[in-house]
Amino acid sequence: MVHVTQLLLVAAAVGSVTAGGSSKPGPTKKKTCKVPYAGKNKDSSPGILATFAKCSSDAIIEFEEPYTYHAWTPMSWLGLSNVDIKLNGNLDLPNDIATVQQKINSTTNQASVSLFLTAARGGDRMLTLPLGPILQTYATPWFYIHGSNVNLIGSTKKNYGQFQGHGQQWWDIGQRILRPQLATFNVSTGTIKNIKVIKPVAWGFNIPGTNVKVSNHFVDAAPNNGTRDQTTSFPFNTDGFNMSGQNITLDGYYGHNGDDCVSVVNGARNIVAKNGYCGFSSHGLSIGSLGRAGAVHTVANVLFENWTMEGAVYAARFKSWTGGQGWAKNVTWRNIKALNVSTAIFITQNYFDQDKGPRPNNTSGTSTAVDNLNFENFEGSLGPNWTDGTCISTPCWNYVQGGDSTQSIIMDLYPGTATNLHFKNIKVHPYKKPYSATTVICDPATLAPGEQDTLGFQCQRGPYVPTKIKGSH
Ligand SMILES: *[C@@H]1O[C@H](CO)[C@@H](O)[C@H](O)[C@H]1NC(C)=O
Ligand SMILES: *[C@@H]1O[C@H](CO)[C@@H](O)[C@H](O)[C@H]1NC(C)=O
Ligand SMILES: *[C@@H]1O[C@H](CO)[C@@H](O)[C@H](O)[C@H]1NC(C)=O
Ligand SMILES: *[C@@H]1O[C@H](CO)[C@@H](O)[C@H](O)[C@H]1NC(C)=O
Ligand SMILES: *[C@@H]1O[C@H](CO)[C@@H](O)[C@H](O)[C@H]1NC(C)=O
Ligand SMILES: *[C@@H]1O[C@H](CO)[C@@H](O)[C@H](O)[C@H]1NC(C)=O
Ligand SMILES: *[C@@H]1O[C@H](CO)[C@@H](O)[C@H](O)[C@H]1NC(C)=O
Ligand SMILES: *[C@@H]1O[C@H](CO)[C@@H](O)[C@H](O)[C@H]1NC(C)=O
Ligand SMILES: *[C@@H]1O[C@H](CO)[C@@H](O)[C@H](O)[C@H]1NC(C)=O
Ligand SMILES: *[C@@H]1O[C@H](CO)[C@@H](O)[C@H](O)[C@H]1NC(C)=O
Ligand SMILES: *[C@@H]1O[C@H](CO)[C@@H](O)[C@H](O)[C@H]1NC(C)=O
Repeated sequence: MVHVTQLLLVAAAVGSVTAGGSSKPGPTKKKTCKVPYAGKNKDSSPGILATFAKCSSDAIIEFEEPYTYHAWTPMSWLGLSNVDIKLNGNLDLPNDIATVQQKINSTTNQASVSLFLTAARGGDRMLTLPLGPILQTYATPWFYIHGSNVNLIGSTKKNYGQFQGHGQQWWDIGQRILRPQLATFNVSTGTIKNIKVIKPVAWGFNIPGTNVKVSNHFVDAAPNNGTRDQTTSFPFNTDGFNMSGQNITLDGYYGHNGDDCVSVVNGARNIVAKNGYCGFSSHGLSIGSLGRAGAVHTVANVLFENWTMEGAVYAARFKSWTGGQGWAKNVTWRNIKALNVSTAIFITQNYFDQDKGPRPNNTSGTSTAVDNLNFENFEGSLGPNWTDGTCISTPCWNYVQGGDSTQSIIMDLYPGTATNLHFKNIKVHPYKKPYSATTVICDPATLAPGEQDTLGFQCQRGPYVPTKIKGSH
């Protein structure tokens, strides 16, 4: 973990040098730096790093068409200031699993971590876990980008502006050890535009940055030879985006993948994700997971609007772990087309690893609270299966007692800690069945006092019955 700290110090030092004096970078003239292409079977990494070192401020760094630059070494582009990265060619990872594993295992790129507390508190139970912050690595990015005023702009041409992961061969053999996450964009004020992610090994872009605008993003993380229901060749953990930053807008997404299209996680504030299509077997537009191992996690002000979710396991999802803490508030999913999805809306405050044993007892007496979650204007239909190829345990990770592919809404709430949930105009029917066959799973005993009056449907284990929201017109 020492190298993580060192990296940050380097980044901070470089940042303070380039930021010196003026608080707001003006329209400084940028020099153009073309990245040298090393050749067809050669590692372009040294040339790429040299270019970023030489042109880390007030520069346009151009990867030229028609080259596919081999980024055969994981790399960090640190301390960038007022830099446009033009991906007019492509970048690819090694086309060899063992090489990628070995390199990601030894890179000094800052890992994507979730900070959490192992807080075994309260009650008369023995405290066997240490209290204190634990850094848990979930993945390490191949490309780590850090700085301010950084624009990553892909070619407008279909075959360029690509990050190629050669992930298919990993999916084919079910290799899930030492997988890289594609990229982390930890930038204050920046854009990501016209980028195509082609066959990533696993997770795509992580955005812990602030004031970031993403547009016209493309993800192809579907296997060439598998279906959503097959485990063989399934593209596990190919999330499109992890967002943990602030003031992030995603406008325009088209992708096929096997995990969340957009996952908004701890720390996120003011996130808008709109105008997208998610196909293959997406796991949805998600908040979380939050509150793992008792962590205090918070998310606020998120809008998902105008998405088509086709073949997804969930269209909209909230997920926090049993015993979590913190809260998520002001989150809206609006104008969502759910086509052939397993469950349109899924909320759990009691998530646990079903393959690692029975539901844990809720000894901590806590949960990650939710307030002001809004689901408006959903239309479409459910698919024939309530799960997909990621189902490799018994029971399946997303098993819900009584779930039978007729539920448009499933809620597993922690008693009294979910407030101001509103469901309006949810029109989703089961596979080849009429709207009247749609059901819900919801336990009225878990609702906060008065919540049923403003919920918008009858909370029960049974038919979906919309109700008038008290006080609305
Ligand atoms: C990863 O690195 C650790 C030590 O840092 C080593 O024990 C392990 O064998 C490495 N794994 C691979 C696949 O290179
Ligand atoms: C992002 O950069 C900030 C410093 O600017 C650092 O504190 C933080 O750890 C970085 N986050 C990630 C996930 O890399
Ligand atoms: C896809 O092709 C690979 C390589 O031939 C094979 O190992 C894999 O089983 C195939 N996947 C499916 C779902 O048939
Ligand atoms: C449901 O998934 C199973 C595999 O888990 C698959 O065999 C079956 O064809 C799927 N059903 C439909 C109707 O697609
Ligand atoms: C990113 O999202 C994935 C899927 O939701 C999750 O497994 C992972 O922990 C998230 N990353 C962070 C840093 O929270
Ligand atoms: C996010 O945007 C708001 C409103 O423009 C601004 O007040 C706030 O400082 C921004 N946050 C960050 C971290 O830049
Ligand atoms: C909704 O998103 C799609 C892209 O998925 C876009 O083509 C369409 O224009 C958007 N509709 C509105 C009303 O913005
Ligand atoms: C709720 O979140 C949305 C989306 O980020 C934002 O536009 C709105 O201002 C937020 N509302 C409040 C009361 O903060
Ligand atoms: C719905 O999904 C199933 C697989 O789960 C597939 O067999 C079927 O063709 C899909 N139907 C439509 C209308 O796309
Ligand atoms: C939960 O508590 C019950 C009753 O106290 C006990 O029988 C059960 O084994 C506990 N479950 C777990 C997973 O600890
Ligand atoms: C968990 O604990 C809380 C508070 O102690 C209690 O109200 C609730 O019923 C428990 N939930 C379950 C599922 O046991």
